[in-house]
Amino acid sequence: MRMIAHNRNSTEARRQAIQLSIDGTKSAAERNRLGQFATPNILAVDIARFVAPLIRAHNRDIRFADPSIGTGSFFSAALEVFGSERMRDAVGIELDPAFADAARDLWTEFGLRIMSGDFTRIVANSTRLPAPNLILANPPYVRHHHIDRADKERLQQTALELTGVRVNGLAGLYVYFLLLTTAWMEDDGYAAWLIPSEFMDVNYGTSVKRFLTDRVTLIRAHRFDPEDVQFGDAFVSSAVLVFKKAPPPSGHEAEFTFGGTLAEPHASDRIPLHRLRESRKWTVYPTHAKNDRHTLSNGNGPTLGDFFRVQRGIATGDNKFFILSREDAKRRGLPAEYLRPILPSPRHMKATVIESDQDGYPLIEPQLCVIDCDLPEHLCERRFPTLWEYLQTAESSGVRDGYLVGKRSPWYKQEQREPCLYLCTYMGRGADDRQPFRFIHNRSAGIATNLYLMLYPRTALAVMLDQHPDRAVQIHALLSEVTGHELRGEGRVYGGGLNKIEPSELGRISAVSLVQKWPELIRYADQTQLSLF
Ligand SMILES: C[S@@+](CC[C@H](N)C(=O)[O-])C[C@H]1O[C@@H](n2cnc3c(N)ncnc32)[C@H](O)[C@@H]1O
Repeated sequence: MRMIAHNRNSTEARRQAIQLSIDGTKSAAERNRLGQFATPNILAVDIARFVAPLIRAHNRDIRFADPSIGTGSFFSAALEVFGSERMRDAVGIELDPAFADAARDLWTEFGLRIMSGDFTRIVANSTRLPAPNLILANPPYVRHHHIDRADKERLQQTALELTGVRVNGLAGLYVYFLLLTTAWMEDDGYAAWLIPSEFMDVNYGTSVKRFLTDRVTLIRAHRFDPEDVQFGDAFVSSAVLVFKKAPPPSGHEAEFTFGGTLAEPHASDRIPLHRLRESRKWTVYPTHAKNDRHTLSNGNGPTLGDFFRVQRGIATGDNKFFILSREDAKRRGLPAEYLRPILPSPRHMKATVIESDQDGYPLIEPQLCVIDCDLPEHLCERRFPTLWEYLQTAESSGVRDGYLVGKRSPWYKQEQREPCLYLCTYMGRGADDRQPFRFIHNRSAGIATNLYLMLYPRTALAVMLDQHPDRAVQIHALLSEVTGHELRGEGRVYGGGLNKIEPSELGRISAVSLVQKWPELIRYADQTQLSLF
């Protein structure tokens, strides 16, 4: 590699200025479409520093590549950490001409070659690309619904041909980058990837996890703490993966870390590959109180799903239109038989126990109702002119053009839900022991929107409540004791520390405390032959 005429630090400073100015010319939507969130150089240097001793052990010359180089934050970091003498070769690929040109201007004299174009096509079509032995990458985080169908099929086909992995259609572009780049790398080379941590928990991640446990030697998986915005919001749900392109030695353990920095994580644990292969969710590692996602249930023993049917609340298609205050509905003379009590959104719900008035409406202010009518239009018009008149206003306000509303028949009939005894809010924040979601004891006939999960006692718990209705209060108290750690462990976390939990995830929370309190639950289950656990 050529001798360096310029100083890397001054070029890095120029790079940062150019990065800012190019970012400034693009809208958020445009940056999202191409997954353009540059790696802060301090993080790129941290990552390169972590990899350095692994490579040093082999004392090899470095052939660097970044498949989506942007302005070259990782190349700059590699120069800083390895020095130009050790870099035999360096190549960066970039789709966006503005970034490709900038990287070329900045780094050509430091020996970086830039290839303009789509990496996923270049890697599939070019047989003469020299194989790198070091990858440092932050691939585009383009979500699957922004990848058009033909492209997705091409990507799936290329991944299958080059790696033998069948990629789930819900996977984002970064999954293809990870697989295709690894196929391109030299055997025994090292790679460090800054990618969304989502694959660790979701279904589409299964094939990626299998790839990481079986095909390469996973050395380190670090997850940033979503509560810690040290690198800005763009990286809060990110992970760094470091691996060697070599089959894992038997008995291999990967180091899982969480929080802090790569060099100084807040929690760390070595996890044997056989455990990783059996684990549905990888974010529960390291199994340490400092991890925001550690679970207690581990999939053994009774779970909430054994005792509750958990269902999402209704999606009305347009809450502003279909949900009215009871007073407003009365004023408009809407027929009570086609109005159902419904709870306000969690933001406006301060109470955790909801009492009922004599009509079943929640005793909270304001009382709300949802229009839910199954009469065909001609009957509705004839029999309930006031309701009909209100429904006519949907036309001009665009309510009827909505996807959900358009699919229903009649369009003002809601999904059917019985009132439920307990609810859990569907999203929320909360660190450490604070529950991100709230459990609510509902003694009214109010149903709920999809901002809540609805919990219906079933099996042995339903039998017990039949015999001891007074225990409903203690059940609520036990639900409220589920730890924040456990809820976060089952749910999923989004940028900025927002947590969400799906019905099946809530169903997997441990219900050991219910059985400890009422061991007869086991007996009820046996007596009634209701399947339990
Ligand atoms: C998350 S950014 C990272 C940039 C740079 N590696 C860094 O760490 O700062 C991803 C980059 O990939 C580029 N990109 C998107 N799709 C690409 C593709 N199909 N082939 C090559 N580059 C692509 C984007 O323009 C963007 O510069």
